[in-house]
This record gives sequence, C-alpha cells and structure tokens, in this order.
Amino acid sequence: MKIAVAGGTGMVGAMVVDQLKARGHEPVVLARAAGVDLVTGGGLEDKLDGVEAVVDVTSTATISAKVATEFFTTTTGHLLQAGYAAGVRHHVLLSIVGIDVTPFGYYVGKLAQEELVKDGKVPFTIIRATQFHEFAEQMIERSRVGPVLVVPRMRSAPIAAAEVAALLADVALGVPRGMAPEVGGPRTESVPDMTRRLLRKQGSRRPVLTARLVGKAGRAMATGALIPANPGTVGIQTYDEWLEQR
Ligand SMILES: NC(=O)c1ccc[n+]([C@@H]2O[C@H](COP(=O)([O-])OP(=O)(O)OC[C@H]3O[C@@H](n4cnc5c(N)ncnc54)[C@H](OP(=O)(O)O)[C@@H]3O)[C@@H](O)[C@H]2O)c1
Repeated sequence: MKIAVAGGTGMVGAMVVDQLKARGHEPVVLARAAGVDLVTGGGLEDKLDGVEAVVDVTSTATISAKVATEFFTTTTGHLLQAGYAAGVRHHVLLSIVGIDVTPFGYYVGKLAQEELVKDGKVPFTIIRATQFHEFAEQMIERSRVGPVLVVPRMRSAPIAAAEVAALLADVALGVPRGMAPEVGGPRTESVPDMTRRLLRKQGSRRPVLTARLVGKAGRAMATGALIPANPGTVGIQTYDEWLEQR
C-alpha cells in the first residue's frame, strides 16, 4: 500500500517510514529534504497519486502560538486539500495529550491543526501521544541559554518514539477511527530530570535550570495535564531502559 508520511525525515516520521517499509508497503516522504515544502505546497503536486493514507507528523520548533498555528494549519491544509483531490481515504494526525487544557504556544497550533482535520473532508484518525523519550534530546538541542539549559517544569509519561511509530503504521493501514484513545508511556517522569539524566549519560556536566512557565499553561504542564488519565495504549519501554540503549 502507498502511504505518504508528511515529516518523514523527522524524529518519529523516519521511524514510521521504516515501519512501513519493513511491512512491505511503499512510503512516500513529504518533507523539504525530499523536495516538498508543505508551507507553500511546492512539490506536492502529484505526490499523493495512488496514496491510500497520509501520516501527518511534520513539526516546527517554535513556542509562538501565531507561528505554530500558521505552520500547522497551512501544512495540514495543503495535505487535506491535495489528499481529498487525490482520493486519499485516511488522514492520520499525531497530536499531543493535554493540549486542550494547556494553552502553551506550540499546543495552540496543534489544537488548531486538530480542528482543521476534524472539519476536513478526508476521513481521519487523530492520536494524541505524550512526549517521546527522545523529547529530552530535543530539549538539549533547543533550550540552550548560553552554557546552561533552561527546561520548563513539566511532568510527562514519556514513550519511545519507536512505539508510537509502530502504532501510527498500524493505524494508517487500518480504517479511520476519528479521535482515537490516547497513548502514553509506562511511568511518570519530570522532564528536567530526564534531561539531566541524558546529559549525564552523554558525559556532559552542563547545568539544567528549571523554570515554571507563567500562567495557566505553566501550571498545567507542571501538575500533570500532559499525562493521559485513561490511555488506550501504554508503551512498554521505560525512559531508563531507553537511556540504557543510547
Ligand atoms: N517530539 C515529541 O515528543 C512529540 C510528542 C507527541 C507528539 N509529537 C508530534 O509529532 C510530530 C512530529 O514531531 P517530531 O518531534 O518527530 O518532529 P521533528 O523531528 O521536528 O520533524 C519535523 C518534520 O517536519 C518536516 N517539516 C518541517 N517543515 C516542513 C515544511 N515546510 N514542509 C514539509 N515538511 C516540513 C521536517 O522535514 P524537513 O526539515 O526536511 O522539511 C521533519 O521531517 C509533531 O506534530 C509533534 O507535535 C511530538
């Protein structure tokens, strides 16, 4: 089966591509590195011909609600439009647990993206997952302030990106399910602590400062709003097990 992976060069996207290949399917990567810019729609033209399902896992590094909303509604808007025209039967969106009660800039954009998919003409599945174990790596790359890292006070039930990728491949090969049950990892962790443990593993002594984000979003993140109450799928690999394998 031909399945497009928008963001197929990214953290989870590349794993979805591998999963699909391993199962004998034909992934079509939609990313700038593959000649498709989903912000402009350039390069998308006939890429969805014969494609049965689209897995939507693009991302942009921003904490601005305006930038995130523009990015997610534009990229997903182009995918839905082109998908409908090409007869795509299933749009699979990866979203994030707790975004409806955590008005943090990036999550505002993800919520607008969910609404667009729900209002669109292509049958869909939206899966909300928790932060990946790999999120700690992304924090180290993206939260540097001079020599220190500033990481938000945040509780999570992190899950291995590989487990989410396998689930996304299953879902893409199945029928549309609308809002699917949430997905989370096996244990609750503190994100600053995850970051410190990963730095230690890497042999780095870089200090990690913790800051609670202001307002409702900061309070929600710090008090567990990003942890699913009733996950439909609970990941198997713990953060420590993942760390052990690095
Ligand atoms: N990271 C987490 O912990 C986590 C947890 C739950 C859910 N999610 C969701 O999972 C999704 C993927 O996250 P990730 O961390 O795997 O992302 P990522 O590693 O940052 O990858 C982003 C992907 O988007 C592509 N992209 C960016 N701008 C593009 C554009 N203009 N046109 C086409 N492609 C573009 C990138 O490829 P190019 O640069 O080649 O264009 C890349 O393949 C996101 O929607 C995120 O909200 C993430």
